[in-house]
Amino acid sequence: MTSPLMESPPGPEVVIDGVKYLYFGGTSYLGLHGNPSVIAAGCDALKKYGVHTATTRAGFGTSPLLLKVEELAARFFGTEDAFYFSSGYVANHIVLPAITSEASALFLDETAHFCVVEAARLAGKPVHRFRHRDPADLASQLRQHLPKYGSPIVVADGVTPATGAIAPVRDYLKVLKDFAPAGLHVDDAHGFGVLGEDGRGIFEEVGLWQHVNGGSPIDGVSLSVCGTLAKALGGFGGIVPGTRDFVAKARASSHYFDGASAPASSVAGCSAAALEICIAQPELRRQLRANIRWVRDGLREMGLEVTADSTANIGFTTGKAEQMRRLHEALKAIGILVPYMPAYSGVGPDGLLRLAVCAGHTNEMLDRLLAALKTHVTL
Ligand SMILES: Cc1ncc(COP(=O)(O)O)c(C=O)c1O
Repeated sequence: MTSPLMESPPGPEVVIDGVKYLYFGGTSYLGLHGNPSVIAAGCDALKKYGVHTATTRAGFGTSPLLLKVEELAARFFGTEDAFYFSSGYVANHIVLPAITSEASALFLDETAHFCVVEAARLAGKPVHRFRHRDPADLASQLRQHLPKYGSPIVVADGVTPATGAIAPVRDYLKVLKDFAPAGLHVDDAHGFGVLGEDGRGIFEEVGLWQHVNGGSPIDGVSLSVCGTLAKALGGFGGIVPGTRDFVAKARASSHYFDGASAPASSVAGCSAAALEICIAQPELRRQLRANIRWVRDGLREMGLEVTADSTANIGFTTGKAEQMRRLHEALKAIGILVPYMPAYSGVGPDGLLRLAVCAGHTNEMLDRLLAALKTHVTL
């Protein structure tokens, strides 16, 4: 399998296979991965601390830089503490063991991301799947299976990576309170940095942030969340913010703290600098939200089926697979890159076109995209 070569940092414009494109792919929603001060911080960190500490956090693996990332993440999320580790992919692997010891079964959204499915399997409890974003089906699955056991935990992506659809977490809560004690756990990889007034993700967006990761349960339902610094937040690595006790439990629940190399110095340096920008420049998030509205409204005006969500990743279909592939190629030929995703978690048999909007897209760039789509969408 050959993949295109990304020959520049991700941003509104990129160079891929030697060609410059107006870019609507990836997940760098706040546009920080090519930011000069983020890059400079990564270079300084590499020079000062070497490639990485070359041992685990439990040994001599904790550099001041890693503590700085955790302090800044706690400040960004408004929590007492945060656990920073080398990959968002393993975030659920870290949190699920911390919250499932008392649980008897997990109920998973059927389209949950690969890493969520794998982590749920590792939890060693029975796993049942419910229909994507469907609280009624969740309720019926719970009724069907719970006579056998109690204390369910519902697990889902906060934002579906391919489509940008938001999980109906308040509806899940309504269902779950009849089965309390229960848990609702969300992987918010695409919500962190995008959703909510302060960018804390889906639970902030729906007014429940104060209850997550060690906060008080609601009607007997505990809320938990994990995510990544590698997307909107402009850095790299997984993150679990929360109360001191919750984070201590997350550190102890798997062997990532005492059995894995700590995150590399350069990426920790970049992550710290990117978090500092996210904290100091809320206007970036506001610009991103304005761009998201612009594109979502424009797509809907074209008659395309797009939700009214405030997420920066927007998946839509314009016909059968071949037609969408042609549309992707036609846009590419005029210098606009809108990825066609033939397969991914949450993607139907024909695949979909998946746009990523970022804060750095100018109105002119967004208009160019919408005009090109209008011209080519009937291909
Ligand atoms: C829902 C979800 N969780 C986790 C990840 C993995 O995060 P990371 O790239 O930081 O390992 C992704 C990556 O695309 C994702 O979409």
